[in-house]
Amino acid sequence: MKLLGKTALITGSARGIGLEFARAYLAEGAVVTLADINLPAAQAAAAALGPKAHAVHIDVASQSSIETAFAEAIAKMGALDILINNAALFSAAPIQDITRADYDKLFAVNVSGTLFCLQAAARHMIARGQGGKIINMASQAGRRGEGLVAVYCATKAAVISLTQSAGLGLIAHGINVNAIAPGVVDGEHWDGVDAYFAKLEHKAPGQKKAEVGAAVPFGRMGTAQDLAGMAIFLATKDADYIVAQCFGVDGGNWMA
Ligand SMILES: NC(=O)c1ccc[n+]([C@@H]2O[C@H](COP(=O)([O-])OP(=O)(O)OC[C@H]3O[C@@H](n4cnc5c(N)ncnc54)[C@H](O)[C@@H]3O)[C@@H](O)[C@H]2O)c1
Repeated sequence: MKLLGKTALITGSARGIGLEFARAYLAEGAVVTLADINLPAAQAAAAALGPKAHAVHIDVASQSSIETAFAEAIAKMGALDILINNAALFSAAPIQDITRADYDKLFAVNVSGTLFCLQAAARHMIARGQGGKIINMASQAGRRGEGLVAVYCATKAAVISLTQSAGLGLIAHGINVNAIAPGVVDGEHWDGVDAYFAKLEHKAPGQKKAEVGAAVPFGRMGTAQDLAGMAIFLATKDADYIVAQCFGVDGGNWMA
């Protein structure tokens, strides 16, 4: 019960890694708001998780939606101790085919969404005066380029940069901002990535997944459960002295 008495909002938690984080936080005693653009899925997930799980609609690319969602979540939970900025989109294209529309969409969700959700949480935490924990979901993709994944990589590099600046800017208020950089995590997100590479690299469905899994030093793709321990740790008092860092949880895929 490492998070007993704590309240958390997790964006993009109707499925995948965010949903697993919600499950893990609830198991540690937290009250959790699942905030997602897919409200019916967030509501179904919250109902299955029990009475300490709430659901709210959020579009992290919209300022008014962020403000409404945070107000609703804080009203439901009484306060906000922990934010996980987890919602994100992925896309892939050769450099010569990248469209401005795709670039704008990914930066609006992955970067603006992270910054302005972080800001909404920070404003509440500063006013409340009890500090807080903010965890941003980065990626190994933010630490290197990939020829077919330029836009997503750039958004995740920006998430790491925002983590550094916000970490330094908010620690005086007792707010720790840190990031997690996963490697390749199996789930619906990677089903989509696999489909992109099937098209762009003429691979059979499932082939890219098999290749990236085999290339992980640990010996397989990650699971959302593999990340949960770090997400819990960074939200506890044990992480009070950890500021503006990005932690790889990737089976040894990348050394920062
Ligand atoms: N799966 C991986 O291999 C992997 C690797 C590195 C980093 N990550 C990062 O981890 C995080 C979670 O990844 P995942 O695999 O669970 O992704 P996912 O695609 O399975 O889930 C993303 C969730 O975000 C929601 N969402 C999308 N746009 C939104 C918006 N505008 N507002 C609010 N919610 C929105 C979706 O409805 C979905 O529930 C992301 O930040 C992702 O970039 C994932």
